[in-house]
Amino acid sequence: MKIVKNPTEAHLRDLYKWLKDEEIESGEGFFCNWNIIANSVSEDKLYIVELDSRAVALLVKWQFSSCFEIDILTVEPRYRGKGIGRHLATSLIDEAKKVNAEKISIQCMPTSSEAFWKSLGFIEDPDKLCERIRGVPMQDLHLEMRLCANEL
Ligand SMILES: CC(C)(COP(=O)(O)OP(=O)(O)OC[C@H]1O[C@@H](n2cnc3c(N)ncnc32)[C@H](O)[C@@H]1OP(=O)(O)O)[C@@H](O)C(=O)NCCC(=O)NCCS
Repeated sequence: MKIVKNPTEAHLRDLYKWLKDEEIESGEGFFCNWNIIANSVSEDKLYIVELDSRAVALLVKWQFSSCFEIDILTVEPRYRGKGIGRHLATSLIDEAKKVNAEKISIQCMPTSSEAFWKSLGFIEDPDKLCERIRGVPMQDLHLEMRLCANEL
């Protein structure tokens, strides 16, 4: 298993196929975000995991100043639960630490992945948590990982 930061056309074809199949078979997944995924290649925002010469997972990141955001992370359904998502997310966390990023944010969608993110050390965005406790209706779950102790 290796992480590729400059995916090829062949990788994109792999992603397109399983994302489309996932949508057809389950009605779920990120095929509806295909344009974001395809456009992120030229902006160096797309990372994939290659396994047996195929792209089996993808991560789209954004970087605003010293803050990283994970826009999309998804693993091909039949490869889930094998440590691939953790490997890809950990690699981005390591990259963010290397450049002294302040934090990594994620809008946790679907929320079924909440336990996955929390197992990596993400916590609920304190500002959003306060709003939720005050009773402000919240549709989305915002998680984050603070990286610089000085910024806390
Ligand atoms: C969420 C997702 C990216 C995790 O990737 P994965 O390769 O299946 O996860 P891993 O095998 O690396 O699991 C890492 C840990 O998270 C846990 N985990 C993974 N998915 C989980 C889930 N849905 N619920 C609870 N725990 C989960 C695993 O048990 C594992 O814990 P462990 O290391 O203590 O054994 C993947 O399941 C996926 O693509 N899901 C659909 C899309 C999605 O929800 N993306 C997140 C968008 S915010």
